[in-house]
Amino acid sequence: MAGSDALFAAARAAYERAIADYSQFKVGAALETADGQIVSGCNIENASYGLTMCAERVAMFKALSDGHRGFRRLLIVTDSAEPTPPCGACRQILWEFGGDLEILLANLAGVTAAYRLGDLLPVAFDRRFLR
Ligand code: THU
Repeated sequence: MAGSDALFAAARAAYERAIADYSQFKVGAALETADGQIVSGCNIENASYGLTMCAERVAMFKALSDGHRGFRRLLIVTDSAEPTPPCGACRQILWEFGGDLEILLANLAGVTAAYRLGDLLPVAFDRRFLR
């Protein structure tokens, strides 16, 4: 498993690439795959606002598109005093493809909090209900 230093560095670099012209709230995320690779993402905003895509989903969709299917951890970086947890839409997508991931929250200096996705999305709706 890659150390969280590498995961943090990837998310921190993605943070710098965020396209957040409207909110000025930059987010970087880095996803660790089951075989130890790291895939990063940043938030990408749009003048229509609603088409904005969060960093976490960019990272997950990039990873899925590259063929990755198993995931271990996701690290999220923002420049905020309080650790920024993933939004509800991202939790649902992360649960679908990553299951009970470890979610590490960081500011620009480093990791400040850790959760399991199952604790952030209790009683989740997923494929088990589709019979
Ligand atoms: N954002 C993320 O990238 N991830 C989250 O989980 C929360 C929100 C982005 C979306 C938008 O570009 C900005 O942060 C403000 O909501």
